[in-house]
Amino acid sequence: MAAKVFAIANQKGGVGKSTTAINLSVGLANKGVPTLLIDLDPQANATSGLGLIKTAGSSLYGPLHGEGMAMDKIQPINEHKNLWILPSEVDMAALEIELAQRPDYLHSLRQCLEPVIKSDQFRAIIFDCPPALGLISMNALAAADYLLVALQCEYMAMEGLQQILGVVQKLKDAGTNTTLEVGGILMTMYDVRTNLSRQVDQEVRSHFEKLVFDTIVPRSVRLSEAPSFGQSIFDYDPLSPGAVAYKKLTQEVIKRFGLKDN
Ligand SMILES: Nc1ncnc2c1ncn2[C@@H]1O[C@H](COP(=O)(O)OP(=O)(O)OP(=O)(O)O)[C@@H](O)[C@H]1O
Ligand SMILES: [Mg+2]
Repeated sequence: MAAKVFAIANQKGGVGKSTTAINLSVGLANKGVPTLLIDLDPQANATSGLGLIKTAGSSLYGPLHGEGMAMDKIQPINEHKNLWILPSEVDMAALEIELAQRPDYLHSLRQCLEPVIKSDQFRAIIFDCPPALGLISMNALAAADYLLVALQCEYMAMEGLQQILGVVQKLKDAGTNTTLEVGGILMTMYDVRTNLSRQVDQEVRSHFEKLVFDTIVPRSVRLSEAPSFGQSIFDYDPLSPGAVAYKKLTQEVIKRFGLKDN
């Protein structure tokens, strides 16, 4: 069975994309779902957040230039059964410009990853996208089955959301990826002490209803500390509110997308 491919994206920076990519990937792996995390951001936050050192030649950059196969760049994460990563590195920054010069500039990633997606090795593939709706994110959306939006509970969140949803519609209308769907919206960095968080959450839910995950990720210092130890929140502080939230999200994702047979 081909893997289900999820792009975690939002053009806005610092909204919890990488935190969600890391913790959802580890959460799924912990639940026995064979999961591959693909770091598409030149910042490589998902790579370092899982304890890997950025290494030249370790990313998709080579395979995207016809040097080697994507499958050969996939690394196991030793202490996690069911979890693999395809890391990023600084070279990936050049891709944004190089992709523009290709005739197949929206489908390069999809072509490169086809054998990985079609292999039986993974049930879920998660892309961590950079904070821009540039060609890397567009390639991710062209290769994905579902967009997952990480949305920070703050002023102007709705405007940013409308923008990325507009891009999804354009990619569908243009035939770039006719089967792409908005898989879900995750409210992140919810601050219980502010009315703003509650208002933004309510506003988004009133417009998008079932698309919004029930899980709300609270603002939590432990979530921001974990990456500097190269650990997911489940390993760093499994009883913290952030761990509880990402565990709940994992269960929702498994159920919503049928990632387990039983
Ligand atoms: N729920 C949270 N509570 C507190 N801090 C958080 C939370 N989620 C993420 N952070 C922290 O906020 C910062 C931004 O989060 P993250 O890197 O996940 O966002 P991003 O959208 O991937 O950013 P970028 O757009 O730069 O890739 C990081 O320092 C992260 O550790
Ligand atoms: Mg990030």
